[in-house]
Amino acid sequence: MNPPLAAVVLCAGKGTRMESVTAKVLHPILGRPLAWYPITRAFESGCQQVVAVIGHQGEQVRATMSKAFEGQALAFAVQEQQRGTGDAVAAARGCLTGFTGAVLILMGDVPLLTAETLTRLVSVYRASKGPLAMVTCKPPDATGYGRVLRGAGRRVEGIVEHKDATPEQRLITEINAGLYIADARFLWGALETLTPANAQGELYLTDIVAKAAALGEVVVVEADAREVEGVNDRAELAERAELLRARINRRHMKAGVSLQHPQSTFIDEGVEIGPDTVIGPNVTISGECEIGSGVVIGQGSVLTHSTIGDGTEVKPYSVCEEAVVGPRCHVGPFARLRPGTVLDEGVHVGNFVETKKTRLKKGSKANHLAYLGDAEIGAGCNIGAGTITCNYDGVDKHQTVLGDGVFIGSDTQLVAPVTIGDGAFVAAGSTITENVPAQALALSRAPQTIKEGWAERRRKVLAGLKSNR
Ligand code: UD1
Ligand code: CA
Repeated sequence: MNPPLAAVVLCAGKGTRMESVTAKVLHPILGRPLAWYPITRAFESGCQQVVAVIGHQGEQVRATMSKAFEGQALAFAVQEQQRGTGDAVAAARGCLTGFTGAVLILMGDVPLLTAETLTRLVSVYRASKGPLAMVTCKPPDATGYGRVLRGAGRRVEGIVEHKDATPEQRLITEINAGLYIADARFLWGALETLTPANAQGELYLTDIVAKAAALGEVVVVEADAREVEGVNDRAELAERAELLRARINRRHMKAGVSLQHPQSTFIDEGVEIGPDTVIGPNVTISGECEIGSGVVIGQGSVLTHSTIGDGTEVKPYSVCEEAVVGPRCHVGPFARLRPGTVLDEGVHVGNFVETKKTRLKKGSKANHLAYLGDAEIGAGCNIGAGTITCNYDGVDKHQTVLGDGVFIGSDTQLVAPVTIGDGAFVAAGSTITENVPAQALALSRAPQTIKEGWAERRRKVLAGLKSNR
């Protein structure tokens, strides 16, 4: 049996270059806060417990992360003063008392890190006899990073920070990615011996590498520089987001989803999509969405926190927000489903139809130009063009309830609260203020009058006036 695994994720830094009132690790990237990614990868690679070290805006970070990882073994350690990365890791010790396995150390601002790289790190560490293993990479520009010092036989001997490095050391292209795994007992002991005798007056975590090298071999996993890069400012946030987006898109395509123009498709991390679904250009699917299989999402549509059932077609330029759409529905083009919309199987909601807190039951249709708010619409209803639920009296919202098989003629206003019974028929152009019993006809409009020959007479009068001028 392998010894247990824990992780410490550093999230205490201020992120000055973000120029933001929000802590850096809370900035969203593809629908999740930055720190969500390394914490998730830690759990995915087998950590039984994860400690997030917080400091700047610590209470917000704690609130957001404990909600995101509810029910999972995520603890928080507060680093009161940012005295360096070594001090930050030491702050986590109290959360891991009695823990005797290996500790992964990750940075909270590294969103592209994969569980595969962590798994590789864990396995080389377990295969080695040394107390520590680490990730390195060779970025195109090593400026600013800690350099990996190797001695005879390319043996890792330590890390020197850029600011402390000699001109010769600065020529080293292999850098410290800031990701490590270490034996817990070694780690806590080594951290106690750190001193701030360096260019930045900080307690450098990197100093433990030389201490580990004195005890045994420090093995290294070399990663793609793009995978282990952090985020320092908003330009870097956007660059990481681009790579992450491409990675998410590729994952869906491999799983059987067609993206007609992946370059313009934005799918958040939390989105699930079934196979044989086709997504058009310029589509955004954000938040926690669940898209079924055999679905078509048309060009320019925007879906947020919504569920779309199997075989449904969302035609171009539709907007769905916190909506639940059943299977085999037709939505759009140009439909707007607002929060609380529920469409049962086979419902049609067409162009320029807006729904809010409204359920349409099986097979009902509202094909053109309507506003349906705070409404419960039975099965098999037909809602004519221009129908409006008048749900708001200026103070309160009221319900409109339709039974099954109701026909609402075009240009009808349903003044809520109002109930229309099963199978009732409302004539076009009606303003309905009273309940309509089942199977009845409701008609509320001025009776039509006919004046024979009126139009012809009028034309003659007008022509006469003109010739007299
Ligand atoms: C660190 C490494 C460097 C490596 C680089 C990779 C050290 C001393 N240097 O440098 O070798 O190449 O990462 O990106 O570790 N933090 C805290 N509390 C603190 C200080 C930092 O939580 O007191 C957090 C920061 O929020 C940040 C991370 O630790 O997320 C890294 O700290 P930073 O000071 O930026 O180290 P680097 O200069 O990036
Ligand atoms: Ca950094």
